[in-house]
Amino acid sequence: MKRSDAVIGMIDLNNYSFVAALQGLMKHLSPQIEWDGEKVDVRLERMHTRPYRVQDEECPYRVIVNRNIHWNSYATSYFMMFAQRVYMLNDVASFLAMNKNTTYGHMSHLGLNIPKTWALPSRSYEGLVDVPIHDLLHMDHDNFDLREIGRDVGYPAFLKPQSGGGWKGVSKVNNEHDLIKACDASGNTPLNLQEAIEFKEFVRVVGIGPQMLVMHFNPDAKYSHDRYLRSDKQAVEFNFISSDHYAETSRITRMINAFYKWDHNSCEMLIDKDGKVHPIDFANACPDSSLVSLHFYFPTLVKYMAQWLIYCAVTRRQKAAGYAVDWHRYFATGARNDLSYMERLEEYNKIAHDFFNTEHFLSFCEEHMPDFDQQAQDFFASDAFTEIIEKEVKYYFTFQHEWSQKIAHYRGIHEFYLSCERDRLRQKDSTTTVVSATHDQEAMGSEA
Ligand SMILES: Nc1ncnc2c1ncn2[C@@H]1O[C@H](COP(=O)(O)OP(=O)(O)O)[C@@H](O)[C@H]1O
Ligand SMILES: [Mg+2]
Repeated sequence: MKRSDAVIGMIDLNNYSFVAALQGLMKHLSPQIEWDGEKVDVRLERMHTRPYRVQDEECPYRVIVNRNIHWNSYATSYFMMFAQRVYMLNDVASFLAMNKNTTYGHMSHLGLNIPKTWALPSRSYEGLVDVPIHDLLHMDHDNFDLREIGRDVGYPAFLKPQSGGGWKGVSKVNNEHDLIKACDASGNTPLNLQEAIEFKEFVRVVGIGPQMLVMHFNPDAKYSHDRYLRSDKQAVEFNFISSDHYAETSRITRMINAFYKWDHNSCEMLIDKDGKVHPIDFANACPDSSLVSLHFYFPTLVKYMAQWLIYCAVTRRQKAAGYAVDWHRYFATGARNDLSYMERLEEYNKIAHDFFNTEHFLSFCEEHMPDFDQQAQDFFASDAFTEIIEKEVKYYFTFQHEWSQKIAHYRGIHEFYLSCERDRLRQKDSTTTVVSATHDQEAMGSEA
C-alpha cells in the first residue's frame, strides 16, 4: 500500500508542558492510519522561525498549531501564505480581526446573555501612530460623558481592554471616581465597560474541535495557576453544575468556536443566582493549556488535541478562506422568533457540528483509533509523563524550595486522574453506561 506522511507543525513559545505532553503522546501513539488507499504516518514537529524564499517555499505541514504567536507578524504572514493549503489552528485572519468588543456584539446579536457592555475609544493614541494626525483625530472624535456611560452600565463594573488576556489592564470599578481614575490610566488601549455579574458559579470551557472540556474556575485564588482548583482542600468537583448547565455552557462555547472558526478557544461564563449563563471572555487565541493550571483536566485536553489533530491531518480537513462563510445561517437562526433561547442554542449547535463535521470525526475516531483511550492512559501513567510534570514544575516555579511540595501536589492530583480514568475505561469495557470523570464523552455523546 502507498504510504504518506502527515506532518503537524506546532509553535508555542512559552508552554513547556502542553507541547511536551502532546509530542510525547503523539510519539507513543505513532499513528499509522489507512485512509483513501494510503497508509498515513502521522507525526508532530515543532516549527522553527527561519528565512524562506517566498517564491518557492513549500510548506511541509498538513496542519499547523499556532499557539502564542498571533502577535508575531513574521509568523502570521507565513501562516496566511499557506492558509489555503494548510489546516490552521486557529484561524489567523479571524483572530487578527476579532476582539472582546466585536465578539460581545456578535454574540449579543445572536441572543446570548452578554452583560451590558459599552465599547470605549482609547484615551490617547500615543505610540500607536507615527504620523502627526492629532488635529484630525480631534475632529474625528465625539465628546462623551464617561459618567453617563458609567450610570448606564451601573456599579460595580469591569473596565477591560478591548484586546487583552491574563487580566492585564482589567479593573473592577465600584463608583464614578474609580472609573475615571482607571480610564485616565489606560493610555492607548481601547476599552470596554461591562456590568459586573454576581455569580454563583464561574465556568470555563475549553473547546478543541467539537470536543468541550468544562471546568470550574475560582477567580479569587491568589495565584493564576491555582484558579482551576475547586478550593484549597479539593482539586476537582464533578457535577459542580447541573447537566443542563453542562450542556448549555458546552453549546455556547462550541457555537462561538465554530462561528469564528477557532479550533482551540476558551469561553468564560458566569452563572448567576437565577441560573442564567453570561459569557464574559471568549476570544482567547491562546487559551491557558498548561499543566500547572489545569492539573486534573490536563490529560483530557491533550487527548482532545491529539485526536483532533490526527483527524484533521489524515483526512486533510479544509477550512474555507473566509471565516464568515456561514454567518448568514447563524444570523437567520438568531432572527427567528419562533425559537426559545435553548432551542436557538440547539440550532446554532447544528451549524457548529456541520462546521466541525462532528459525526465524521466521531466515526473516524471509532474506526481508526479504537484503542486511543487505553494508549493515552498508558502514556499518562508512564515515567515519561512523570518527568514532564517534574520539569514543568521546575520551569514554572522559581523558588527551588517549593519544588518538592509542588511536584507532590501535581503528582497526587495526576494519580487521582489516572484512577478515575482507569475506572471509566473499565466501565466502558463492561458496556455499562459510561460515567466519565471528566464528563467528556457525555458531552460529545449527548450532543453530537
Ligand atoms: N462582567 C464581569 N462580571 C464579573 N466578573 C468579571 C466580569 N468581567 C471580568 N470579570 C473578572 O475579571 C477577570 C478578567 O476579565 P476577562 O474578561 O476574563 O479578561 P482577560 O481576557 O484578561 O482574562 C475575569 O476572569 C473575572 O474574574
Ligand atoms: Mg479571562
